[in-house]
Amino acid sequence: MKTNNSQNIPFNEAQQAWLGGFFAGMHSHILQSAGSADAANARVITILYGSQTGNSEAVAHDAAQVAKAHGLNPSILSMDEIEADSFISLEYLLIITSTYGEGEMPDNAQILWEAISADDNIDLAQMQYSVLALGDTSYDLFCQAGIDWDQRLEKLGAKRLYERVDCDVDFDDAAESWISNIIPLMADGATAITVDSSETSSAAKYGRKNPFPGTLVANRLLTSPDSSKEIRHYEISIAGSELSYEAGDALNVVPVNCPELVADIVKAIGCTGDEDEPVSGELMPLSQALGEHFEIKLPSKELLNEIARRSGDQELNTLISSDDKEKLAGYLWGRDTLDLLLQFPAMQFSAAEFIALLKPLQHRAYSISSSGKANPETVHLTISSVRYNSHNRDHKGVCSTYLADLADENTPIRCFFSPNKVFRVPENDELPMIMVGPGTGIAPFRAFLQEREFRQAKGVNWLFFGDRNASTDFIYRDEIETMQKSSVLAKLDLAFSRDQEEKIYVQDRMREKGAELFSLLEQGGYFFVCGDAYRMAKDVDKALHDVIATQGNLSEEQAAEYVNQMKKDKRYVRDVY
Ligand SMILES: Cc1cc2nc3c(=O)[nH]c(=O)nc-3n(C[C@H](O)[C@H](O)[C@H](O)COP(=O)(O)OP(=O)(O)OC[C@H]3O[C@@H](n4cnc5c(N)ncnc54)[C@H](O)[C@@H]3O)c2cc1C
Ligand SMILES: NC(=O)c1ccc[n+]([C@@H]2O[C@H](COP(=O)([O-])OP(=O)(O)OC[C@H]3O[C@@H](n4cnc5c(N)ncnc54)[C@H](OP(=O)(O)O)[C@@H]3O)[C@@H](O)[C@H]2O)c1
Ligand SMILES: Cc1cc2nc3c(=O)[nH]c(=O)nc-3n(C[C@H](O)[C@H](O)[C@H](O)COP(=O)(O)O)c2cc1C
Repeated sequence: MKTNNSQNIPFNEAQQAWLGGFFAGMHSHILQSAGSADAANARVITILYGSQTGNSEAVAHDAAQVAKAHGLNPSILSMDEIEADSFISLEYLLIITSTYGEGEMPDNAQILWEAISADDNIDLAQMQYSVLALGDTSYDLFCQAGIDWDQRLEKLGAKRLYERVDCDVDFDDAAESWISNIIPLMADGATAITVDSSETSSAAKYGRKNPFPGTLVANRLLTSPDSSKEIRHYEISIAGSELSYEAGDALNVVPVNCPELVADIVKAIGCTGDEDEPVSGELMPLSQALGEHFEIKLPSKELLNEIARRSGDQELNTLISSDDKEKLAGYLWGRDTLDLLLQFPAMQFSAAEFIALLKPLQHRAYSISSSGKANPETVHLTISSVRYNSHNRDHKGVCSTYLADLADENTPIRCFFSPNKVFRVPENDELPMIMVGPGTGIAPFRAFLQEREFRQAKGVNWLFFGDRNASTDFIYRDEIETMQKSSVLAKLDLAFSRDQEEKIYVQDRMREKGAELFSLLEQGGYFFVCGDAYRMAKDVDKALHDVIATQGNLSEEQAAEYVNQMKKDKRYVRDVY
């Protein structure tokens, strides 16, 4: 885990003892009681979260619990639930935010960020704050959104009460440490009161820290066998878990690495695989450790640096030391850990040395493609299997091919849900729903349509879908056509990009149907986007602005204002990756 631990101020013994109990209580669901405080006089602190998939939100709730226990009165808000005017008058502020896209704000933080970053005359002299940044060191702009907030607040005169902590994917310990340090500082030594751990994020029987062992009950190919890509439909039984989910949520799957890749890596570093190594307090053979606990496909920065240092390879060292991140990304594209090890065959590591350079194996998120109301005991997923050949080897995505090739009905599929509270079928069954989901982006919209059908909702449902070729990649075609016949799906626009010389994409269809699209938006319609974040979602966003400007006779600025209002009303929401 990477954190700014050097910046952590140690807390005193009493705090340590109490907080130790608090966090133990969070994990073992024990009710903590530590006196009482006068709630009416409690200091109000605001905890703002910027979150796409719920991690920052969950940490915000944990922080609020600790704050309450310190006699504070915490108010938790998503960043799109506060206006800039109210923001600038806050006195005690905690910001917990993830980073998305390429160093960008999560969707729910964008409007507030634009307002606060645009005005240099804002004076935040009355504000005391601290930032917890969630991110992933495999991205170039690690924790950039948190860094931006931290620097901006300081620049506008706010007082940083505690140094920002930047968390990597395994953020729990760093987040707990930040909470443990910042809350007493916010409380000025206020008295701790009762904490009901049943309200904390880790109170559920199954979750991120204790995934449910689901059962794979279906695994079928959706694309044709002769397609240029492979998309599969999975069903995972959660019977007996007492878990439930909503259309729009994601399921996270904890994969196991491919045994052949483990064996090849063990050989490449000059080990046998039988070397016993401690992992999370448990001694296990290297092969098991690499199979179950470490990311062995995508090379970590630490491993890359060490290979460069040991090999002295000029090209690699120049790439690492230069600021040209794109060049390094280009070098790494399609190269995995084994490619790097094979490139420098003399590279030998002891088991302990090698493990120390790896990152923990992470779960992968998947947008659920079923409605929890229609399918309470199974979760459906729609997954593109990552398979490609580069550097003279076949490469496989860890999780997508774990499900495709390795798992069967006897494999416990360790999984947990990430609720996505804003990516939801509209509460009002009469309102139109426009869904743009090419490729695997269709997943949550299959769930939304099932949900609308289950609720017998009368609102218009309109799907924009596309993929490479109609004959091989029109996934869920039968279901879609059945829904059209039964009028669940009132409108369908398809864009098969490779069926003609000129590419046709979903945003082209949106433009063609601009008048109708704008008319449904004017009726209060919801606009949902799911799928590729880097190209498709950006182009669809541009098309949405264009349609609104053209059809509404609006200037570029007015169209942007229209779109911002849709975002504030949670009528323009995205699930992009
Ligand atoms: C909220 C959310 C929802 C998601 N929902 C879905 C979903 O519904 N369906 C779905 O399929 N995915 C979905 N994803 C993506 C999913 O989480 C995984 O990222 C995806 O399955 C790949 O994981 P993997 O372990 O198989 O591949 P990994 O082992 O993570 O490998 C992927 C990496 O391989 C490399 N790579 C991939 N293709 C190539 C290539 N052609 N050439 C060279 N290098 C390449 C790239 O470095 C890429 O980052 C979602 C992601 C998020 C965050
Ligand atoms: N980083 C990458 O380079 C890359 C590339 C592909 C997929 N992916 C990832 O692979 C996963 C699965 O992909 P997927 O099966 O869902 O979909 P996908 O392979 O990304 O593509 C689905 C459809 O979207 C089209 N498309 C490509 N660029 C587009 C754009 N700018 N605007 C609109 N449509 C566009 C594709 O057309 P064409 O392919 O014919 O252009 C294809 O018809 C996702 O995680 C995705 O992000 C990443
Ligand atoms: C599509 C995508 C883009 C991301 N981009 C970045 C990034 O640029 N920098 C970073 O540090 N983390 C990045 N992350 C990692 C997230 O910030 C991290 O997973 C975080 O824990 C998510 O928290 P949330 O659930 O509160 O949104 C990205 C994750 C995804 C799925």
